[in-house]
Amino acid sequence: MLEELEQIERQALSTLETVQDEEALQLWKVTYLGRSSPLMKTFDQLGGLPKEERPATGRRANQVKRALEAAWETKGENLRQTSIQRTLQSERLDVTLPGRPVARGGLHPTTLTLRRIYRIFSDMGFQVYRSREVESDEYNFELLNIPAHHPARDMWDTFYTTDPGVSLRPHTSPGQIHVMRQYAPEPIRVILPGMCYRYEQISARKEIQFNQVEGLAVGKDLTMGDLKGTLIDFARRMFSPEVRTRFRASHFPFTEPSAEMDIECFLCGGAGCRVCQGSGWLEILGCGMVHPLVLRNGGYDPEKSMGFAFGIGPERITMLRHHIEDIRYFWMNDMRFLEQF
Ligand code: FA5
Repeated sequence: MLEELEQIERQALSTLETVQDEEALQLWKVTYLGRSSPLMKTFDQLGGLPKEERPATGRRANQVKRALEAAWETKGENLRQTSIQRTLQSERLDVTLPGRPVARGGLHPTTLTLRRIYRIFSDMGFQVYRSREVESDEYNFELLNIPAHHPARDMWDTFYTTDPGVSLRPHTSPGQIHVMRQYAPEPIRVILPGMCYRYEQISARKEIQFNQVEGLAVGKDLTMGDLKGTLIDFARRMFSPEVRTRFRASHFPFTEPSAEMDIECFLCGGAGCRVCQGSGWLEILGCGMVHPLVLRNGGYDPEKSMGFAFGIGPERITMLRHHIEDIRYFWMNDMRFLEQF
């Protein structure tokens, strides 16, 4: 029996050396230390041995059991260490490598200009008012003193829908009527930003989709002087405190008198060049005193209230500020252009 125990121990330990993973280790344990292993059977057979052999054989059997259990534990620990080392090697991090750059998003140049415009006018006490992009003919034109078949409609090349009398707004001016009807007879001072659509031939200066920021102030005793003061102040804050401006008489059916505002050409300083087409000036907006008929359509009594209004093109302003020569860049989604802002 002692001989048998020696053989069990030798065989178990030599098999343990060939064990390479956790699964094989478990199998080894069942084979050599499990209930029906040869070692455990020797314990069962102890009772059948002659009395004088029993103590020595029992002691030896216990020694072998402890030795195999210790070997099993050591092997298990070794296997775990090897596996940790393998993971550390394969997932090794080189903390000295430079980090991968994270692509950062940015705001679109028009959004940047719009936010600047909002800030300037909010400093002057104007609130932002939003109105719809799909409009009725009544709001787009009629209530703005542009009756059907009037030649002034040609100034706005409109996208009509299959629904008669419904079109995409070609300018933000219909918002004037919405805001006046909501607040009349209270004084108002608002800007109305938003997307406009025109059925135009796309060119370096014209898109079929562009933003406008409408401005409207209604109150008692407002004059053309208030309009000019507001817009000159706007131009100074937008471009530079030294910017030179001028107002030219113009015509819009919803304002009387009407004007367009120019700033001195940033490129030639007023001498005349390709950008300003030799005039020395660049147009930035249309404006005027709100027509009495429009005031009445908005719910105000033109005998008691006066108003001024203006319409700014933020893409054109962005082009002037950043010397961008073609408006089509704004919709191209070309990262080389967008990343510059
Ligand atoms: C108007 O749309 C008037 N509603 C502005 C106005 C408002 C006048 C209130 C008086 C009182 P106009 O068509 O000129 O006006 O357009 C105003 C601005 O929108 C232009 O100065 C220009 O900056 C911009 N704009 C017009 N058409 C386009 C276009 N196709 N692409 C890009 N910007 C445009």
